[in-house]
Amino acid sequence: MKDAAPQTVYLRDYNPFGWRIEDVSLTFKLAPEATRVTSRIRFAPNPDAPAQDFFLHGEDVTLLRASIDGAEVTPEITPQGLRCAVPDGAFTWEAEVEIAPASNTALEGLYMSGGMYCTQCEAEGFRKITYYPDRPDVMATFTVRIESDMPVLLSNGNPAGSGDGWAEWHDPWPKPAYLFALVAGDLRNHPDRFTTRSGRDVELNIWVRPGDEGKCAWGMEALKKSMTWDEDVYGREYDLDVFNIVAVDDFNMGAMENKGLNIFNSAAVLASPETATDANFERIESIIAHEYFHNWTGNRITCRDWFQLCLKEGLTVFRDQQFTSDLRSAAVKRIEDVAQLRARQFPEDQGPLSHPVRPESFQEINNFYTATVYEKGAEVIGMLKRLVGDEAYAKALDLYFDRHDGDAATIEDWLQVFEDATGRDLSQFKRWYSQAGTPRLSIHEDWQDGTYTLTFTQVTKPTPGQPDKAPQVIPIAVGLLSPNGDEVVPTRMLEMTEGRQSFAFEGLSARPVPSILRGFSAPVVLDREVPAEERAFLLAHDTDPFNRWESSRSLAREALLAMIRDGAAPDLAWIDALGRVLRDDTLDPAFRALMLGLPSQSELAQVLHEKGATPDPDAIYVATEAMADALAQRFEPMLDALAEQARVDAPYAPDAEQSGKRALGGAALALRSRLDGGEAAQAQFEAADNMTLQLSALTCLIRAGAADLALGVFHDQWQDDRLVMDKWFGLQVAAAGPAEAAAVAERLTRHPAFDWKNPNRFRAVLGALAMNHAGFHRKDGAGYRLLADWLIKLDPLNPQTTARMCSAFQTWWRYDSDRQALMKAELERIAARDGLSRDTAEMIGRILS
Ligand code: BES
Ligand code: ZN
Repeated sequence: MKDAAPQTVYLRDYNPFGWRIEDVSLTFKLAPEATRVTSRIRFAPNPDAPAQDFFLHGEDVTLLRASIDGAEVTPEITPQGLRCAVPDGAFTWEAEVEIAPASNTALEGLYMSGGMYCTQCEAEGFRKITYYPDRPDVMATFTVRIESDMPVLLSNGNPAGSGDGWAEWHDPWPKPAYLFALVAGDLRNHPDRFTTRSGRDVELNIWVRPGDEGKCAWGMEALKKSMTWDEDVYGREYDLDVFNIVAVDDFNMGAMENKGLNIFNSAAVLASPETATDANFERIESIIAHEYFHNWTGNRITCRDWFQLCLKEGLTVFRDQQFTSDLRSAAVKRIEDVAQLRARQFPEDQGPLSHPVRPESFQEINNFYTATVYEKGAEVIGMLKRLVGDEAYAKALDLYFDRHDGDAATIEDWLQVFEDATGRDLSQFKRWYSQAGTPRLSIHEDWQDGTYTLTFTQVTKPTPGQPDKAPQVIPIAVGLLSPNGDEVVPTRMLEMTEGRQSFAFEGLSARPVPSILRGFSAPVVLDREVPAEERAFLLAHDTDPFNRWESSRSLAREALLAMIRDGAAPDLAWIDALGRVLRDDTLDPAFRALMLGLPSQSELAQVLHEKGATPDPDAIYVATEAMADALAQRFEPMLDALAEQARVDAPYAPDAEQSGKRALGGAALALRSRLDGGEAAQAQFEAADNMTLQLSALTCLIRAGAADLALGVFHDQWQDDRLVMDKWFGLQVAAAGPAEAAAVAERLTRHPAFDWKNPNRFRAVLGALAMNHAGFHRKDGAGYRLLADWLIKLDPLNPQTTARMCSAFQTWWRYDSDRQALMKAELERIAARDGLSRDTAEMIGRILS
C-alpha cells in the first residue's frame, strides 16, 4: 500500500545520494506468485553528498534476508523502503526479496501479461522489484541472471551466457534503475541486423506472442530507419551488440526505452495492412524512433531527478518530430503536431492542471508525464533552434553529447551548452521552463510612408501558484505579402523579449498583408481580429503552408462561432475559398485532407469561453454537423474527382504518398456519406483490403446510421485480433451521436470481450467517451457518471491509468453551472473513496483547486 498522507517532493530539496554504486548483480527465480529476487550491490561513500541515513526504496516487496559484507542485518522496514546502519567505508549489500508478479495489476514493476513476465520501471517502479536507491542520478552497470523454464529470457545489455532454464545478461553502460528491464515468455522473434557506421554489427529482434510474427516487419523497418537517421543527423551510433523490442498487451503507456530492451504496448508496434490504419503505421514509426532516440537522449545522458523529465522527453519528442518530418511531409507533420498541441497541451495549460515544462513540486511523478512536459517541452527546443539557427543548434548538441555523456543532467546543463556554443545569454529564455501558461499575443499594425510596423503585446494569465508572469522570449516568424499576392518580405525571425515591442519593415511600395507566426514559431495564442478577406487572401496566397492551413482554420472557426452564437448560416465565402484549394491537384493530397478538417468541438468550447460565452456542447455539435452538411452539398460536384485523385493502384504501402491519398479519400467519403446515406461507404467497406479503407468506411456508416450489418461483419471478421477489436469498441463510441454515446459506451462495457483490466480496451471505450465532446457532456450527466463509475472501479487495480484519465474533467470550469456541478459531484464522489491511490487523489485535488 502507498502512503496514506501523500508527501510533496520539491525540486529545491534536491540532494545527491550518499553512496555510489559500482555494480549491481541481480538473480531472478521467476514464479507467478512468488518470484525471488536476490541482489548484490557494491556501495561506496559518495564524497559529494551530505551525511544521511542509508535508505533504500522498496514497495510491495517482502524482505527475506539481508546482509552487509556477509553478516546478516535486520533493517527497519517502512511502507516506502528500509533503513539500515552501514559501515563508514565501502561495503557489499546482499538481499533476497519475494514479489508476486501475477497479482501485480498496476503494471508497474515486474508483472505478467498474457502469460509472459515483463517489467515497467519508469518512473519509480524498480522499487517494486527489490530494495534499491530508485532515483535516476544513481547509475550502475547491471549483471542479471534469470532462472525460469520460459523459452525466451531477456534483460538489458548483451547476452552473457545461457543454458537450460537460465540466461545471463550484462549491461556495460551505467544506468539508473528506471531503465532496467526483464522479459520472460514463450515468444517468437522477427530478426534482422544493422551495421553501424563505425562497423558494429548489431542483432535486432522484435519479440512477440506466437501468432503476431506477421505484424513485425514495419516496426523493424522503422527501427533501421531510426538508427540510420540518428547517425546521419545527430552523429549518434548504437552502442550494444543487440537491440531487442518486445510487444506486450497490457501496458499503461505507449512504449518504454529500457537500455537495449525496449518494451512496447503491442498497439504501438504491431501492424499489418489488414489490421492497422495508415495513422497507426505512422504512429508506430515515430514511437519506435522516439524510444530508439532515447538511447542517447535519456539513457547515455539521463535526468538528475524527475523534475528534469523534459530534458529527455521534450528533446526526444523534438527529435522524433524531426525524424517524421524528414521522412514524410514537413508541412503536414507540423500541422498535425500543432493541432495535437492545441488539443492536448493548451487545455492543460489554460486550466487547473497548468504547470511549468519543468515542474517544481509533485506528489506522484507519474502524473507529470504530461502534454506540457512532452509537447510544450519539444516546442521550447524548437524555439531555441529557431533563435540560434540550425548550425549553432548542431554545435550545441555535439557539445551536449561530449560534455554530458554518462551524466545525470539538468536543464541548467542543457542551457549552458547553448550559451557556451553561441555566446548568448539564455537567462530570459529559461523562463519557458519555469513559467506555466500560454502567452497570448495581440498585434497592432501601422502603415506610414512605406514603413510597416508591427507592435506585439504579450500577456500570460495567472496559473496555479504563479499569479505574476514575466515576458517570455518569443520567436515570431513573419513574412509580408504584397496586395497582388507576391511575397515582398520572406520569412524573418523577429525576437520579442519585452512585454510590448515594435518591429518595422521599411521601403515597401504598398501596405502589405502580414503572415504572422509562420510554421507556428512559438507556442502562443494569437489574439488578432483579422478581417475575413485578409484570411481568405492568405488562404489563397501564403507561401507558408502552416499559415495557409491556419487561415482556413480561423475562417472555419469564425464561421462556426457565428452559427453557434447568432444562428448564422454557414459562410459560403470561406467554403468557396476552401473549394479552390481542394480542387488544386498540384497540392499534396494529405495537405488537402487536413484542410477539410473542422476545428474540434472542444476547441470551439474553449474559444467560446474565452469570448465570454458559456459553451453549449449540444449547440456546438449541431453547428459542426450543419457545417459538414454544407461542405458536402457545396462540394458535391467535385467529390467524384477527389475520390478519383485519392485512388491508389499500387500495392498497399503506408508511406506518406499513399496515406495522404487515402486521407483525402476518407475525407471525401465522409462528405459523400452525408448525401447518399452511406451507399458509397458500404461499397468501400465491402471492397476494402486494408484497415484504413475498412475503418474509414465503417466510421461513415456509423455516422450515417447504417452500420448495423457492417459492425457485425467487422466483429466476426476480427474477434480474435485484440488490436482490431480495440478499434471496434472505440469507434462505436467515438462516432456515436451526443444522445447515444454514453449509452453505447455503457452497453459495450457489458460486452463479454470488454476486458477492463487491459488499459487499451479500457481506453478504447471510456477514453473514446471522454473524447466525444457532446456525448461526454450530455446534459443529464450520464457521460460523467459512467466515466466516474469506471475510474472508481479501476483505481484500486491500476492507479496510473485511472489518474491519467481523470484529465477528462480538467475543463469543467468552461461549462454552464449545471454541468459544472455534475462534474464536480463526480470528482468528489471519486475523491471520497477509501484507499484512493495517491495518483488519482493528486489529480482530483488539482483539478478541483
Ligand atoms: N519514457 C516514456 C515511457 C513512460 C512514460 C514510462 C511514463 C513511464 C511513465 C517513453 O519514452 C515515452 O515517452 N512514451 C510515449 C510515446 C512517445 C512517442 C511520446 C508514450 O508511451 O506515450
Ligand atoms: Zn519518451
